[in-house]
Amino acid sequence: MKIVKATYLISSPSFEQCPTLQAPEYAFIGRSNVGKSSIINALCKQHNLAKTSGTPGKTQLINHFEIISNTIAKGKQDKWYIVDLPGYGFAKVSQSSRRRWEQMIENYLRKRPNLNRVFVLIDSRHSPQKIDIAFVEQLFKWEIPCTIIFTKSDKEKPGVVTRNVKAFFESLNEILPYLPEGFVTSAEKKTGTEEVIACIDQYNKLYAEEQG
Ligand code: GTP
Ligand code: MG
Repeated sequence: MKIVKATYLISSPSFEQCPTLQAPEYAFIGRSNVGKSSIINALCKQHNLAKTSGTPGKTQLINHFEIISNTIAKGKQDKWYIVDLPGYGFAKVSQSSRRRWEQMIENYLRKRPNLNRVFVLIDSRHSPQKIDIAFVEQLFKWEIPCTIIFTKSDKEKPGVVTRNVKAFFESLNEILPYLPEGFVTSAEKKTGTEEVIACIDQYNKLYAEEQG
């Protein structure tokens, strides 16, 4: 699968205000500053599609991007959506705005009809963080399918990245009935992006089959 067009659609301040869409969508979520917007840009091969920033907490809204891709085998085009969600775990937010975030995210994740899968982003430079493990556990409890994307792999030695990825899955293994799929990526070096795109192609096919 190859992305032929990626365009910004809309930013919504709440789940209720998100547009009604027919095609499958994929949400990207993770700690503030983990690299959500950067990996979206890398997947779409564009620099400024999703706004990136060195300041955590940049993405505050539910941002939809419309993607047109072609499946080479069949020569046909698919439409699907990427959603850039605001990050969690940003220390400098008040209790009330944290609660607002939780409510908005829970509503979106549990009620969005065309949400096909959630990509949870994990910083590959760090050993397993409680907040990330708890978030993946919550998704399992809600029965929301997820895939892990390890980010910023260019920033650490390969050995460290491998150790952190292994430790993360070991932590998940203690609490989950089965493990989600995972990809190691770098938005900087554009590594792992083809694998994520191929994986979305599979999820699109399954979605189309489910919809009949
Ligand atoms: P919020 O929207 O604030 O939650 O952040 P985010 O998760 O969207 O992160 P963003 O993509 O804005 O990236 C945060 C910072 O990390 C930026 O300075 C990026 O340039 C940097 N960054 C993101 N991905 C990579 C990567 O793969 N390698 C390197 N070296 N830096 C990265
Ligand atoms: Mg962002």
